[in-house]
Amino acid sequence: MSERLPPRDDLALMAGYHSPQVDVAVRLNTNEAPEPPPPAFIEALQDELGRVAFHRYPDREARELRAAIGELHGFRGEQVFAANGSNEVLQTLLLTYGGPGRTVLVFEPTYALHAHIARITGTPVATAERDEQFRLAPDTAVVAVRRVKPAITFLCSPNNPTGLLEDAETVAAVIAAAPGLVVVDEAYGQFAPRSSIGDVTDDGNLVVVRTFSKTWSMAAARLGYCVAPASVVAELEQVVLPYHLDSVKQAAGRLALRFEKEMDGRVAALVEERGRLALALADLPVDVWPSGANFILFRPRARDGADVWQALVDRSVLVRNCSAWPRLEGCLRVTVGTPEEDDAFLTALREVLA
Ligand SMILES: Cc1ncc(COP(=O)(O)O)c(C=O)c1O
Repeated sequence: MSERLPPRDDLALMAGYHSPQVDVAVRLNTNEAPEPPPPAFIEALQDELGRVAFHRYPDREARELRAAIGELHGFRGEQVFAANGSNEVLQTLLLTYGGPGRTVLVFEPTYALHAHIARITGTPVATAERDEQFRLAPDTAVVAVRRVKPAITFLCSPNNPTGLLEDAETVAAVIAAAPGLVVVDEAYGQFAPRSSIGDVTDDGNLVVVRTFSKTWSMAAARLGYCVAPASVVAELEQVVLPYHLDSVKQAAGRLALRFEKEMDGRVAALVEERGRLALALADLPVDVWPSGANFILFRPRARDGADVWQALVDRSVLVRNCSAWPRLEGCLRVTVGTPEEDDAFLTALREVLA
């Protein structure tokens, strides 16, 4: 039998980005919402399912959904691009504005998929470093932008996995200096005290990415979007696969937005719970970073991070093991869960660190 053709050479050395799906009682590893959507949302969706024309392709441009998302943020539907999770939004941005011969810039440590998806799309990745406390000063950012001349500069606010917000001056300085698009990933934007979404304009270079996976309790539905200049959205629509958003997902996204008040209430509760978790962690022998997201990064001071992670799994608590990630030696990341889940995590962690 002849040997099968291997995958592309440039993919050979790339590791995947996956959090292990371990069977445990308390799952605090992927920053999902701890609760399902409100029952009234499920009822409305079931009702809507009866009206879906399953024998027809969906509305290719997802006009109603995009108009509803636009209205939520004070934009027109033409300024919204929606896709299967914000990861697909990022991929479409990279397919459209990246590619061989163009470079993107990321500031490490940050969300690993910015660089990962860039490489999959054949886009070279340049990196610059955040400081020791994972902050990014305006000068550092601008020097890097001038050096790299990126087609896309990625910022992430709040940043995953550190939880820190990008400094407002840094975002403004990058927008002013960047020759290409500035993509601010706000997957956790609703949990933070400030956002860049209001700064998007049709004649600017700013794109803000959001997701239904966290605040809207819809990680299973895979729906994300960006607010961007209308001309950028038009380009993205040319590149993404036809009919990429199925009718059920379009309906789910549209209906979810009717529950904005409930979701705001949940976000407020999670932010309060984040405060309680941070206070409890501050009493333990761990370093903790201030978070504007629905997760907290921490580093056990006297114990190996990977050992602590395993000891937590042995107690049926799963957090994200970042301990082998560059710059994050020994760090773990915990998602804010329900008070009961967080108590279970804290009890297990106290036991492990005792
Ligand atoms: C910073 C950031 N961006 C994007 C995503 C992707 O989210 P999704 O594809 O579920 O919308 C995540 C998910 O964890 C994230 O942390």
